[in-house]
Formats: sequence, C-alpha cells, structure tokens
Amino acid sequence: MSYESIDVRALTPLIGAEIFGVDIGRGVSNSQFDEIHRALLDNLVIFFRDQEITLDQHKAFGRHFGKLHVHPQPSNPVEGHPDIIAVKADENSKRVSGDAWHSDVSCDAEPPMGSILHLSEVPENGGGDTLFANMYAAYEALSEPMRKFLDGLTAIHDGEHFRPRTNDTSKVFPKGEHPVVRTHPETGRKALFVNRIFTSRIAQLSKDESDALLEMLYRHCEKPDWQCRFKWRKNSIAFWDNRCVMHHAMWDYFPQRRFGYRVTVCGDKPF
Ligand code: SIN
Repeated sequence: MSYESIDVRALTPLIGAEIFGVDIGRGVSNSQFDEIHRALLDNLVIFFRDQEITLDQHKAFGRHFGKLHVHPQPSNPVEGHPDIIAVKADENSKRVSGDAWHSDVSCDAEPPMGSILHLSEVPENGGGDTLFANMYAAYEALSEPMRKFLDGLTAIHDGEHFRPRTNDTSKVFPKGEHPVVRTHPETGRKALFVNRIFTSRIAQLSKDESDALLEMLYRHCEKPDWQCRFKWRKNSIAFWDNRCVMHHAMWDYFPQRRFGYRVTVCGDKPF
C-alpha cells in the first residue's frame, strides 16, 4: 500500500525508512498519524529530519501512539517531566546509555512498545550513530529445529547484572520473564526477544546451557545482515519499535557532546 500524506523512503529492504512531509512541531493530522504508524510497522524504525520541537510537542507526538512510559531508573531524569529522559554524553561521561545491543527496558513486565529520540546536539566531527537490527529477520534466519526449540522458552530480564554496582539500594530495576520468541501484537510476526543489557537467564535451562544459548543468540542477532545505521544530524528523530528491533548507540565521539531527549511509549505483556 502506498502513502498519501507522507513520503516514505526505505534505507534498506529489511529495516529503516526516512519520513518526509511531516512537521511534528506543528502537529500531525489523523491521516498522517495513521500512515506514520503503518510506516513504523512496515519499516520497524523510522527517521525524521529537521524537527525543531519542544518537550511538550515531543510528548504530544508520543501520545498519538499510546500512554507515555516512566523509566524506572533514568540515568538523566528531566525535572518536571517524569515521562522524558535526557540522552547525554560529554567530556565528563564515564558511560553512556544504550551502548550495547538492547530493546529498551525489556525488564518491565510490560516493556515499552516504542521509543522516540530527538537529538538537538550531535558530535562536531561525526560519530554517535545508532544501529538498529530487525529481530523478525533474525528469528526467520534460524534453522527450523532451533526455532522450534526456542518457541517454548522464556527468559528473565532484569538489568541488574549489567549496570555498574552501586551502594544505592533504593533504585532497583524491575524484573520480567518473557518468551524468547515473542509475537508482535500488531503484525502477528515472530521476533527474537533477548538482549545483552537486560536478559540474564533462560528460565528452563541450566546456567551453563543458558549462557551458551544466549551468547549464540546475541551473536546471531547482532549480525550486520539485518541492520541499518542512522547518522544523526541536529534535530533528527528516530522512532523505533522495541517489540521487533534492537538498537545500539555508538560512543565513538568522546569527549565530544551529544544531547537529546527520549519519549518512550508504553507497551503490553509479550506473548
Ligand atoms: C537509547 O535510547 O538506548 C539510546 C539511543 C541513542 O542514544 O542513540
């Protein structure tokens, strides 16, 4: 089906498209919203250029797609906006958010459906790209016996094993148990749903078996075969579907600064 109110240009045949003809700050019409939604389902991650938006406009855009998610443990909270997180790196950063393959907050009982990141500052000399990977394609590329084996398994997602140790016990990541292969609630397609940041263990296997299987799956998911790579400019937006996409933010620009805000849209319990 073609698009009438927006222009959609695919970045690769498997994942990613740039959207033209939309000014998010001015508001999105119902027909544009329907087509943006369809473009997201068709392309898994969509990109917009030259969008100068306020925090309220950013949130209003996110609300077209669902309730906004409040991060359980934001590294960079934004005062007065619990439903926004800042994404920030500069010469003082010891680490940055998202610089390993993951699906956002997959440790939630109901992990976010999508994330909408707007960057207002990008590194002067380039770098800071974000990589996105298609988890339908990763699932479909597995052999049939492996797909059958994975179909009955669940994995624990908790994030505690990945984050730096701290003495602050008041902040705890939620913990969730989700199918290793989830069915996308809107497209009906199956996607792999394990990631290095949040997944700690496959529930039905011994620790050694779980470690070996997860490492095999991570390497498989992270192959370049089903990826696209987005080069940010000031005022670009990326909107990805966490139910079928993993992403990895490159931190190759230290000590340069990169800054923006992310609005995250609530999702439902994976099945
Ligand atoms: C994230 O939301 O995981 C960060 C993505 C990015 O900084 O590109």
